[in-house]
Amino acid sequence: MALKTANKPIGIFDSGIGGLTVAAAIQKVLPSESLLYFGDTLHLPYGEKSAEAITRYSEDITDFLIQKGCKCIVIACNTASSIAYEAVKKRAGSQAIVFNVIDPVAEYVADHFHDKKIGIIATKATVKSGMYSKKINKLNSSLEVSSIATPLLAPMIEEGFFNNKISKTIIHSYLSNIKLKNIKALILACTHYPLIKTEIEEFYKKKISIIDSAQIVAEHIGKELKRQHLLTSKKTIQHQFFLSDLTESFVKSTRYFFKKKISFNRNNLWKKN
Ligand code: DGL
Repeated sequence: MALKTANKPIGIFDSGIGGLTVAAAIQKVLPSESLLYFGDTLHLPYGEKSAEAITRYSEDITDFLIQKGCKCIVIACNTASSIAYEAVKKRAGSQAIVFNVIDPVAEYVADHFHDKKIGIIATKATVKSGMYSKKINKLNSSLEVSSIATPLLAPMIEEGFFNNKISKTIIHSYLSNIKLKNIKALILACTHYPLIKTEIEEFYKKKISIIDSAQIVAEHIGKELKRQHLLTSKKTIQHQFFLSDLTESFVKSTRYFFKKKISFNRNNLWKKN
């Protein structure tokens, strides 16, 4: 059984490259920590899957990260955070702390805005769960939360389509939705979306706040690990990347974010021997 010890790695998972935005922010906030990332590229996109499937994938990845000795598990995916957080916590038990990407953002929004309309763009599964509005309104009932599903965005980003004509057209069409009219802030409620943040900012011409969870979540994790005396004292850093399927876009994006020589381990947790 793995123990929550300070010198163990931080486990992070997502369906693909989205969680790398969170991993990169954690690396900036906590540069001494070693990260162990699992990208479930085999099952991407999670946003289109049933709650049952998302929960099962998340539980199996949790078992893997615990078996690898991670001191904590960061669910770096809004879809899995909204559907499977309780299941992952249950699975991890006392062996690892579990962080989701929704709670720190809900707290941030509840603290920074009052009596305003907040827009949310996310996967179908995240929107269907209603988790953002539940959590935000529990903390601040003065806020009106309006969410729209933007299912083309994660696969588009995963395929490397951003900063081009196609991405601009798709983003423009989604953001013109009447449900997002008069918002004062937009939450990028999918960890893939920071990769198109510039294009979203261009659409709004910097008139509203664009809330990207990566930095908020990384700072929250840093504070919590410090509070629980779980920051590493090790001098050597070793990041490890595991993928259920090796995809070109994952390899490219990881090199973009981590800017050094990285080796990838293909590990299909679901393959029967
Ligand atoms: N990056 C994930 C999220 O934050 C989901 C993308 C997907 O697999 O649909 O929701």
